[in-house]
Amino acid sequence: MPTTDEQVQSPLSAELQAILRCLSCGSTLESDQAGGYKCAACKRAYPYVQGIARFVDAQHYAASFGFQWHRYQKTQLDHDEVRESDRHFRMKTALRPEELKGKLVLDVGCGMGRFAEVATRWGARVVGIDLSAAAEVAAKNLADRDFVAFQADVFSLPFAHESFDIIYSVGVLHHTPDCEAAVKALDKYLKPGGTLAVWLYSGYNKWYRFSDFYRRFTHKMKPGTLHGILKVAVPFFYHLEQGLRRLPLIGRPAAGAVHHVFPVNRQKDPEARMLDTFDWYSPRYQSKHTYEQVFSWYRAMGMEDMNIGEFAIAVRGRKPLQRK
Ligand SMILES: C[S@@+](CC[C@H](N)C(=O)[O-])C[C@H]1O[C@@H](n2cnc3c(N)ncnc32)[C@H](O)[C@@H]1O
Repeated sequence: MPTTDEQVQSPLSAELQAILRCLSCGSTLESDQAGGYKCAACKRAYPYVQGIARFVDAQHYAASFGFQWHRYQKTQLDHDEVRESDRHFRMKTALRPEELKGKLVLDVGCGMGRFAEVATRWGARVVGIDLSAAAEVAAKNLADRDFVAFQADVFSLPFAHESFDIIYSVGVLHHTPDCEAAVKALDKYLKPGGTLAVWLYSGYNKWYRFSDFYRRFTHKMKPGTLHGILKVAVPFFYHLEQGLRRLPLIGRPAAGAVHHVFPVNRQKDPEARMLDTFDWYSPRYQSKHTYEQVFSWYRAMGMEDMNIGEFAIAVRGRKPLQRK
């Protein structure tokens, strides 16, 4: 992590001083000696704990994500040989490097920072927020980038209106209690002419019915307990499916039936498979959506130039320069 002095000197930190706002009274914030912030007017303090400033008092319903991203800190992070996050970012936001270069960008629900890694590599200055302790991991993973992470809630963000050129949120807002309200909450932080890109789980295919049923129970488990159960269940069902596939005639339908009733992630890499299966069964909230819904929300916000990405449900749109 950069020291407090280094943070103050970075161009992103100077920009942050201009856009950060107190959650209680809306006044500007000043950095304190320890790396946190303090409201210039009402004196409310936002402490710096374990490498990040905190704008919430707890992880609330997102504690399983804190566990997940501390356990799988680098599994999905791109490196020289692997560019999976880059590929997903393009498909799920329809954003391109030339659009991000030199821009001030907000990553909503940054997790351990896989997409902020891509955005900073493309030349953006990125502020990542996450309700869970995942923000600590993002700060560590991207310590050498033009990146700052905060623990904060999408429904109560510490930023002035019209601060960001681009806001994106990948795989996050369907994990809040009200996805529509979460999408609409972001509009005010966009500069006029800015772009909002969100990716949400698709509601078109109903294959997730069984896992939705199991999640009613699994989300209530302690993250460590659920993880322990999945460490046995994921390899079991994965290899059962692979084995069944080899049987003549009934093999494929039988494997399909097992996957339908006991869905586990099918990636080849066992660690990625565990991560994505845990990610599927642990969240308290997990809504699914259609393009019709998301387009209607964008229209209600007055967005223009709406477009879809390659991977449903990916919607981007531009905030008009002037609202009618
Ligand atoms: C599935 S993870 C996705 C993380 C990252 N965007 C990625 O794709 O790797 C969902 C993230 O949303 C965060 N989250 C859930 N509710 C949130 C809220 N109200 N405000 C901010 N972040 C939230 C969780 O803590 C979690 O890290």
